[in-house]
Amino acid sequence: MYKAFYTLKRNPFEITPDPSFLFPTRRHNEALAALYYGVRRHKGFVVLTGEVGTGKTLLLRCLLQSLRQSADVKYAYVFNGRLSPFEFLQYIAGDLGLPASGKNKSELLLQLAGYVVSRGEKKLTTVLVVDEAHLLSTDILEEIRLLTNLETADEKLLQILLVGQPELDEKLDSVDLRQLKQRIALRSRLASLDLNETQGYIERRLQLAGSPDASGLFPPETVAAVHRHSRGIPRLINTICENALIAAYARQASGVTPDIIDAIATDFRLGIHTPPVETKKKTEELDVRKAAKTLLELYAHLQGEQAREEELAARVPVRVTEPRVTEQ
Ligand SMILES: Nc1ncnc2c1ncn2[C@@H]1O[C@H](COP(=O)(O)OP(=O)(O)OP(=O)(O)O)[C@@H](O)[C@H]1O
Ligand SMILES: [Mg+2]
Repeated sequence: MYKAFYTLKRNPFEITPDPSFLFPTRRHNEALAALYYGVRRHKGFVVLTGEVGTGKTLLLRCLLQSLRQSADVKYAYVFNGRLSPFEFLQYIAGDLGLPASGKNKSELLLQLAGYVVSRGEKKLTTVLVVDEAHLLSTDILEEIRLLTNLETADEKLLQILLVGQPELDEKLDSVDLRQLKQRIALRSRLASLDLNETQGYIERRLQLAGSPDASGLFPPETVAAVHRHSRGIPRLINTICENALIAAYARQASGVTPDIIDAIATDFRLGIHTPPVETKKKTEELDVRKAAKTLLELYAHLQGEQAREEELAARVPVRVTEPRVTEQ
């Protein structure tokens, strides 16, 4: 309802993860680079963690959008961590297009291994992607460890991406799973946005939605209030900004003022929050130097996708920063 009033073509702050809205912060760039590089260079086992609402599923969708276009890649995408080991294997087999019914667990494993090996022989890439991986049981993580054993002398045959909340780091740190932990080739962590990033994030979403005056609609002092109340967590930024637009429209105001943001934060009880889960060990620094080239390929691809999307692309140039290269 506020769209026409603020000359927007679409809702700027949907909370569903939509790759066309990606705002590439340094962390998001590095994490996407790690996922993409891990798959493309057959690194085997890649882990991405991040607090609730920081953009993990969005990054996976960006990656999968690109992989879908690659004829040499086949992937299984599991987004329910609460499966039994048997259901997990059944699901993967089904998603890869293998006959799964009537098979017991060992038969499923054998079938899967045969499939992965035969694709490897043809130089094809097979990927297992698990979102919400912090919910996986130790038993399933043990199955995954067995799957990481599928390898040739110089590369892994099944690429495994585990993505989840910080509890996943805790799980992988446990003594029972130390063998799996040793197999992690790349590991990255998403964080909340700082004030500058929050500003860029809000502006980019408004511009992509067709706003002719993003900084007039959300002036700097309003962005500062959004950042304060959301603590830079993208999903909360979206919720606050969406509701702020509705409230500003109700007042027929030309822009969103900080007091609107404060009122929404009170309504949503944003002052009362559970502290983020502290992980015992700081995430290892990710070396993405070699990944920079492949990441640029990915962005070129995503830009191509976006360019085809609606007439928006013609009106608002897509601004994508180059990935920052971590020197070691
Ligand atoms: N870098 C970003 N650019 C644009 N939008 C983002 C970015 N990061 C997060 N978002 C948006 O924030 C919202 C939450 O993102 P997402 O669902 O990917 O979070 P998540 O980390 O998977 O959360 P959860 O732990 O609850 O699964 C989505 O609307 C998503 O589009
Ligand atoms: Mg998610």
